[in-house]
Amino acid sequence: MSATEPAGAGGSTGRVFQRVLGRDLPRAVRAEGCTIWDADGRAYLDAAGGAVVVNVGHGRQSIVDAAEKQARDFTYVHGTTFTSEPLETYVRAVGRYLPLDDPAIYPVSGGSEAIESALKMARAYHLARREPDRTVVIARHGSYHGNSLGALDLSGREPLRRPYEPWLGRFSHVSAAYPYRAGEAAAHALGDADQLAAELEAAIADAGQGRVAAFVAEPIVGATLGAVVPPEGYWPAVAEVCRRHGVLLIADEVMTGFGRTGRWFGLDHWGVRADVMAAAKGVAGGYFPLGLAVASGAVYDTIAAGGGLVHGFTYSHSPVGAAVALEVLRILEREDLVAASKTKGERLLTLVSKRLGDHPNVGDVRGRGLLVGIELVADRSTRRPFPRQARLVEAVMSHARNAGLLLYHGTGNADGTNGDTILLGPPFVVTETEMATIAETLGEAVERATAEVAG
Ligand SMILES: Cc1ncc(COP(=O)(O)O)c(C=O)c1O
Repeated sequence: MSATEPAGAGGSTGRVFQRVLGRDLPRAVRAEGCTIWDADGRAYLDAAGGAVVVNVGHGRQSIVDAAEKQARDFTYVHGTTFTSEPLETYVRAVGRYLPLDDPAIYPVSGGSEAIESALKMARAYHLARREPDRTVVIARHGSYHGNSLGALDLSGREPLRRPYEPWLGRFSHVSAAYPYRAGEAAAHALGDADQLAAELEAAIADAGQGRVAAFVAEPIVGATLGAVVPPEGYWPAVAEVCRRHGVLLIADEVMTGFGRTGRWFGLDHWGVRADVMAAAKGVAGGYFPLGLAVASGAVYDTIAAGGGLVHGFTYSHSPVGAAVALEVLRILEREDLVAASKTKGERLLTLVSKRLGDHPNVGDVRGRGLLVGIELVADRSTRRPFPRQARLVEAVMSHARNAGLLLYHGTGNADGTNGDTILLGPPFVVTETEMATIAETLGEAVERATAEVAG
């Protein structure tokens, strides 16, 4: 410790409890577009926008200006005492894009909070309708809804659940809509829309008449399975099952929302409307910790006429968050970035398929818009995954990072433990040259990592 650094009573200074332990992390100093620079001057191509967050790209001065302008007026007022102009303006502007009718928007600080809030909205709705026995919530295997305990409990993501299993178990799970591993018991996966809808209906019946409150699912599965698109009739079929049984449909659009899959929201691919929705990530594009829990007008009106919503977070309804989100929305509109996500996504999928589609350890290349997934397997014909101990995807990530390419990854997709996926989710401003670099560098990283593991 230097003489100029005063120590506290305990005589020690603090340190960061990093996300990754046991590895020295480079120090980020600047970012623009799809590039992040570290303190040593190294450039990294951010092919995943962090955790598929930075939809409008890094370094947007107009967003910083919007945040600054609002912060100069006021940064914080309590959500039970005040509303604010930026918040009222934002909800009016964003409403027309959301996949719910007459939406009522409750801003929070991220995806996990949005999911927790969405669950409580579902509970409040049923209580208001005097159906207190609707307590069962059904989610899916092979899903991710967040890391707070309620959201983790919803998540069918074994590697993240495992240490906390004694604290989990409130929610039930039906099969993942995962055509690549359809019929594999260990993957809890089906690939047929009618079968999946029938399974959900059977789970609702098993729970008992008037017992199920909500069904929660990602329109296209992001982190847990790696950009898995459900079979074509799936969403209309499960939405219909939910409606028929008075079960609220909660769409988790945290990753798929705000243009990521080439439409404003994932459900838009199928023209399906949710009763409740969670969004985050792209809503503020990494410029502010922000999520949205959204109720349809019918759900909101019921809650408002009933007992209300017993809920609240200190940092909800942030005026600075709303100012940031409004400018993010304006950028998406001005630069037609949702359409860009669609066309560039098709191009990226083509480039990655060309570069890696024939590789013996690439089982599947898939996705929609600028959400592209690659599933790695030990054997293409049987779809057998590499054993977890091989740490294949970590090796891919490491080779890519050493070559200046940042990716996102998942494990456990095949059976809860084994399985390796890579997720690409670059900012929508990604260029043709950058996409070519992503495909090439990713290709080299996969080749090197699989050769090492096989060797
Ligand atoms: C679909 C989905 N839901 C919820 C979350 C949780 O969001 P957060 O990490 O902001 O709490 C994530 C994060 O990756 C996600 O992908």
